[in-house]
Amino acid sequence: MDLPPSYQSSLKNHFLSLPLIFKKKLKQALSILALLVSSAVVFVIITYFQPRSLFPLGFLSQILPSNQEKSCDYSYGRWVRDESYPLRSYNENCPFLDPGFRCRQNGRKDGDYLKWRWQPHGCDLPRFNARDLLERSRNGRIVFAGDSIGRNQWESLICMLAEAVSNRSAIYEENGQPITKHRGFLSMRFHEYNLTVEYYRAPFLVIFGRPPKNSPHQVRTTIKVDQLHWFSDKWMAADVLIFNAGHWWNNDKTINMGVFFEEGGKVNMTMDVLEAFRRSLQTLRSWVLNNLDPERSHTFFRSYSPVHYRQVSHVCQ
Ligand SMILES: *[C@@H]1O[C@H](CO)[C@@H](O)[C@H](O)[C@H]1NC(C)=O
Ligand SMILES: *[C@@H]1O[C@H](CO)[C@@H](O)[C@H](O)[C@H]1NC(C)=O
Ligand SMILES: *[C@@H]1O[C@H](CO)[C@@H](O)[C@H](O)[C@H]1NC(C)=O
Repeated sequence: MDLPPSYQSSLKNHFLSLPLIFKKKLKQALSILALLVSSAVVFVIITYFQPRSLFPLGFLSQILPSNQEKSCDYSYGRWVRDESYPLRSYNENCPFLDPGFRCRQNGRKDGDYLKWRWQPHGCDLPRFNARDLLERSRNGRIVFAGDSIGRNQWESLICMLAEAVSNRSAIYEENGQPITKHRGFLSMRFHEYNLTVEYYRAPFLVIFGRPPKNSPHQVRTTIKVDQLHWFSDKWMAADVLIFNAGHWWNNDKTINMGVFFEEGGKVNMTMDVLEAFRRSLQTLRSWVLNNLDPERSHTFFRSYSPVHYRQVSHVCQ
């Protein structure tokens, strides 16, 4: 939905599957990863973008119990077809789904897209277990921040967890906000577990706002690649953070609309969109390193998905 058709076609050939993770230790991280890879969304990264060089933190290789001889990097693997899928972990009657994200009810007929499973090289992922994840996430905060794919994942996780909660009224938005498309943030509380699963809409992750004074007239807005979004104050002390960004970093959503890139308080008229994206991720990385407690917080990053928009119809993926 975020992706204009022209960009879609130009991206298609550049993908490889790679969920990118830059934090250590186990606990919820494993289950979250299981969720991320078991959902219908495919996480991919543009090859020339080389995300590993931005986050050279050893990925998940260090989170496995030390008695395990060979550690396994869950981010290194491939998608395989699995005829035992879909897992039916929830269905579209889940009350926490945006109407726009109810693929079947919106007319999607095929179901093959549900038959993909992430297969790491050299090991298997644990199956998602809602009750187990809820128990281990007691008194916790799980934060999704970024574009609408993150919103898809956020809603999916809530629905998957809700399957293990018999009293649906005990799951609610903390500020009474409805779950419809909107531009701020939403925090779903699982009352019995004192757990919140939160979503922050920030498609660029960094600040998007007014240009500095005396900017060239064609500059309508700037993306401040060296300043993380204001919402980041609320991300601190989360137990799990899943950042989503990529699809908005294209010319149609930026330069062609008068949105230029700003660094050090100055607009840089020659910085291109990929360079700007790269710098914004360095900003994110610095923030993670400076503001999160590595003993507590587990951070994931998801970039492009192969298909998120269809020109023919708005039937979701
Ligand atoms: C709920 O969790 C928060 C941390 O997210 C914690 O500060 C608070 O003490 C917990 N409340 C209860 C009643 O356990
Ligand atoms: C369900 O949860 C709501 C909100 O926490 C609570 O007021 C209500 O008593 C619960 N109902 C049952 C049957 O436990
Ligand atoms: C603008 O950004 C480019 C990188 O895209 C950089 O090489 C250049 O030095 C920057 N210009 C200014 C004036 O900072």
